[in-house]
Parts: sequence; C-alpha cells; structure tokens
Amino acid sequence: MCGIVGYIGHRSAADVVLKGLKRLEYRGYDSAGLAHIDGGVVIAKTKGKVAALDKLVTDRTATLGLGHTRWATHGEPNDVNAHPHTGGDRAFALVHNGIIENYDVLKRQLLAQGHVFDGETDTEVLAHLIEEVHRVSGGEFENAVRMALQQVTGTFGIAIVHRDFPDTLFAARRGSPLLVGVGEHEFFVASDASPIIEYTQHVVYLDDDEMVVITRNGYEVKTIRNVPITKAVHQLALSLEQIEKGGYPHFMLKEIHEQPRAIADCLRGRLLVDEHRIQLGGLEPVMDKLLVAKRICIAACGTSWHSGLVGEYLIEGLARIPVEVAYASEFRYNDPLIGPEDVLIVISQSGETADTLAALREAKAKGATVIGVVNVVGSTIARETDAGVYIHAGPEIGVASTKAFTAQVTVLTMIALMLAERKKTLPAARLKQLIRDLHDIPAKIADILARDAEIAELAKVFTYAPNFLYLGRSYNFPVALEGALKLKEISYIHAEGYPAAEMKHGPIALIDQHMPVVVLATSDHVNDKMVSNIEEVRARKGRIIAVTTPGNDAVLNLAEFAVTVPETDDALSPLLTVIPLQLLSYHIAINRKCDVDQPRNLAKSVTVE
Ligand code: AGP
Ligand code: GLU
Repeated sequence: MCGIVGYIGHRSAADVVLKGLKRLEYRGYDSAGLAHIDGGVVIAKTKGKVAALDKLVTDRTATLGLGHTRWATHGEPNDVNAHPHTGGDRAFALVHNGIIENYDVLKRQLLAQGHVFDGETDTEVLAHLIEEVHRVSGGEFENAVRMALQQVTGTFGIAIVHRDFPDTLFAARRGSPLLVGVGEHEFFVASDASPIIEYTQHVVYLDDDEMVVITRNGYEVKTIRNVPITKAVHQLALSLEQIEKGGYPHFMLKEIHEQPRAIADCLRGRLLVDEHRIQLGGLEPVMDKLLVAKRICIAACGTSWHSGLVGEYLIEGLARIPVEVAYASEFRYNDPLIGPEDVLIVISQSGETADTLAALREAKAKGATVIGVVNVVGSTIARETDAGVYIHAGPEIGVASTKAFTAQVTVLTMIALMLAERKKTLPAARLKQLIRDLHDIPAKIADILARDAEIAELAKVFTYAPNFLYLGRSYNFPVALEGALKLKEISYIHAEGYPAAEMKHGPIALIDQHMPVVVLATSDHVNDKMVSNIEEVRARKGRIIAVTTPGNDAVLNLAEFAVTVPETDDALSPLLTVIPLQLLSYHIAINRKCDVDQPRNLAKSVTVE
C-alpha cells in the first residue's frame, strides 16, 4: 500500500533509494528499510521516518539496491516488521506492497516445514515461501519466485535482490502499482513515478501477474507463468506534484476515486462470497463475548461517529442486537453505564483521536470488551483494544475523511452480517443476497464516480449558497449528517443534516426559495415517506437536489436536480449515496477556491480533548 524504490546502474543505490523513499513520503508510512548487494545482502530498516533510516546507512558504494516505506497491514509497525524481509538463509531481500491474503495457511505450512519467522508480516511469509519453493525446485531463482507468486492470493508489488545475482533486480506485481524506469545504462523500479522522474522520463508499467527481470544491460518482462510479454515504453508527462496525487489535483479527489479499490481491499479475504459467509479473524478472540452481548455500544468522533450511526442501523437491523452510539467525548465524561457484559466498538481512521482513546480506556477500566475499527495499523487505539478489524483503506491524507468512511461502513456491514449469520437472525436467502450485493459495491461506486462531471455541473449552480440542508431517513440519515459535515469542513458553507421527518419540527422554518435541500431518496422502504418530505420542501419553494435510484419517478418528477446511484439493498445504500455528496462538496469547495486538502482550523488527527 505504500512505497517501493529499486535501482540498478552506476550510481550509489542507497542514495537513489533514500531520495526516492523521501519522494514517496506523501503516501504516508510507518517504517522504512533498504537493502543493497555488497558481497552479501546488507539490510537496514527501522520504525519511523526515512530520515532515521538515512542515518543507519553508512556504506553507499553498492549500485544495486531497493527500499520500502511500509504502511503496516499485518503486524505492528516496528523494526522487525519493517521491510525488506528475507528467508531463513538471508540469501535475498524482498520488499512488498499489498496484502498476501492466504498468508495464514502458507505460514502454517512453512512452520511445519521448519521455517522460523522473525515478525508477524504477511510479507515475511512470502519471502519464506520463495525460499522454500527454490529449495524444493532447485532450479533458477526467478522461476522459484514465479512459482511462489502463483501460490499466493491477494495483492503484491514486490522487488527482490539476491546475493548470488549482483547484477539483477527482480520485480513483479498484482493489484499494487509498479513501474520500471528506463534510463541510460540504469534502471529503476518504483510504485509510482515520483522517485524516478529526475533520472528518466521513460517508463514501463507492469500489469497484473507480470514479472520483470532487470540486469545492467536491459530488462525482460514475462508473466508469472513464464510467458514473455512485449511492453510499450511510455513517456512521463506529469509533474512531480501531479504524480504524488496520482494525477488528481487534490488528495481528497484521489481518495474519493480510490474508494472502489479501498473497499475491495477491505473485503478481500473476509467476504467469502462462494461460502456465503464473512470471516473476520481479528474478532475471533472476542467472538464469545460478542455473540452473547445484550447490547453493543459504539463511540467515535466526526465522520467515524457517522459511520458508527450507520453501524447502529446495520447491527440492529440485521443482527437484532441493540446498539447505542455515543460521541466519544460525551461517553468518556458521563460515567458510562458499561460493564463486563458489554462490548464497545471504537471507530477511528487515525487510531489516535484523544476523545476516542479516552472512551476506550474508560470502557476497559469498567471491564467492557473493546473492539477497534481502525485504519492505521499499530496506532494507539489499535494497540489498546482487545480485538479489532482494520479497514485497510490505505493512507488517507486529505483532512476530510472520504474513503475511510466507506471502508468503516464496509467493516461494520461485515460485522453485522457475521453476527446475523451466527445468530441466525436473517433468512438464508437474504444473507446470501446481501453478501453478493456487498461484493458488487466497489463496481457500483466506480459507476457513480464515472459521472463526476455531472456533479461538477450541479456544484456550479450552488457554489454561492450560504446554507444547505441534508435530509435522509433510516440508513441514509447518517449519510445526511456526513454530507453536511463534508460540505462545511471544506467549503465553509453552513450545512445541517437531519432525519427527514424532523424537518417539520423546526428546520422547515428555514426553507425558502434560496435553500438547497439535498434529499437522500433511493427506492428503499421509506421512499414514500421521503416523497412526502420532498413535497413539504417544494411547497415552501426549497430547491430539491435528490440522490435517488434510476426509475424512481416519484422522486425524479419532484426534484429540481437529481443524481442517480445504482440499486442495492437498503442496508448497503449509504456506501453509494455518500459518494455524490463527497463529490458535491469537493466541487463546491474548489469553485470557492478553498484549500480542500487542508481546510482552515482542522487537523487530520485530533489528539487533544
Ligand atoms: C472528517 O472529515 C473529519 N476531519 C473528522 O470529523 C474526523 O472524522 C474525526 O476527527 C475523527 O477522526 P478519526 O477517525 O481519526 O478518529
Ligand atoms: N502487508 C505488508 C505489511 O504489513 C505490506 C504493507 C505495505 O504495503 O506497506 O508489512
């Protein structure tokens, strides 16, 4: 998920790699490491910043090497888990971005074969697998890498250097980006072009299941099944800043567009579509508690609190367990009624939010079991919870949370479905259908994102509106809150989210011909009620922007503007309806020339009370 740089040529590999890793820092990471071939494999690695790694590397004469910035997914960020990883005889060094989904099964086999592991990463398992395959097959090392890669499921961008091949750099990919930079008698490997752009403009983009073997004289690309491929050399046309943002003008927009991928990563290895079940290994230690809990509490802040509210609808609706959602800041100071019978779920992108951490500690002090739904692996909240499920959304850099929200909701959906399955609270056919529908969500989000231009046009109409109202019911009420929060955070327009029926108890007084009202009105079980609420707004000349589903004529005929999202189960609809709201706030903020990635007064991680 983070960064790889590899080099073979005439320069100091350490210098190129360290400089390249610094260029990749924008991606967010927790540890860094480097290996070069200098007689044997020399490795330096550390938790923390590239600057700290730089200090560890003294000899810089080698001209073949690789480096990595790790954004931990499996195993705490510490010196041991930092990449590169090696097999038992330390013959080669491997760096990896992505997730080896079947690492657990492979690790058990390798342990039985006598392999000993230093840390907890899935990557180390891949290193030992390559070593084992090479030992057993006895042939060419590169073929052993190919065979090993055929055995793994999941995603990888990898680079390898081997002590017996001081003139060869190996790299391969599936799902995680990797490119080869082609220079004059020198070659680079990197997870994006930012580390190599100052050396060469010529790149070869590896595709899934392709492996490149680079020597000092050239490179050869074959599939991992050993089929040779002829690759086109592309000319880079982007500036360094554009590359860091993946070609998007802002991190926020990049992260919005990353959602199909982030959710697919989050579901990977957990949503077992063919078996009609969910597997959340991280919850096994507390499963007994979870299954007998009379109620579940959720505590979080901001956007994470909104996903907690969706979680309440999901867990109550699908697993029939009562849920209470609290602002972490309120929970901690109100002598919460929580004890050994209870389970608290804390949700946090950063895993460092002070109020959420305090809620966690308060609940633990009272004997409750605490589960984390966290993005940043090894963060304080992740470490202090009894068990948890990482959302695997990848680093989120824009201050306004987008992909973390949908990935949190995805995890909460999986928790609800897993509980529903075990407690048998859903008819088998509905459970099966929900699992299939959840699997289809990334593609449906991609569908909505493809219509970004439509939403940009809509944003032009409302750029200078001073106020906005967002209305939703049931599963889409928290989405109304999230839509309003997104807009106020980055465009500084005052916005309120309400359960649609509450409008008539007060906010209706605000409605006149100047008030844009965003209604979340998909074809769900409350559609008729939403239609009545839309009529109430129209009667007061409010301007309706509807997020609805295709063919929902009752809504489409009443709305002044409409954006459609694909149909899905009511319970999954927040994962789709929030997308146009993220884009709408983004485009309005851009039109207003606001700094969307770093809005005024806000911090990405709020570590004060
Ligand atoms: C989201 O757009 C906000 N910047 C903010 O509300 C955020 O969700 C909140 O501070 C919680 O952060 P956390 O998820 O890292 O705990
Ligand atoms: N899954 C690997 C790990 O946790 C790689 C993480 C990354 O992509 O940085 O070490």
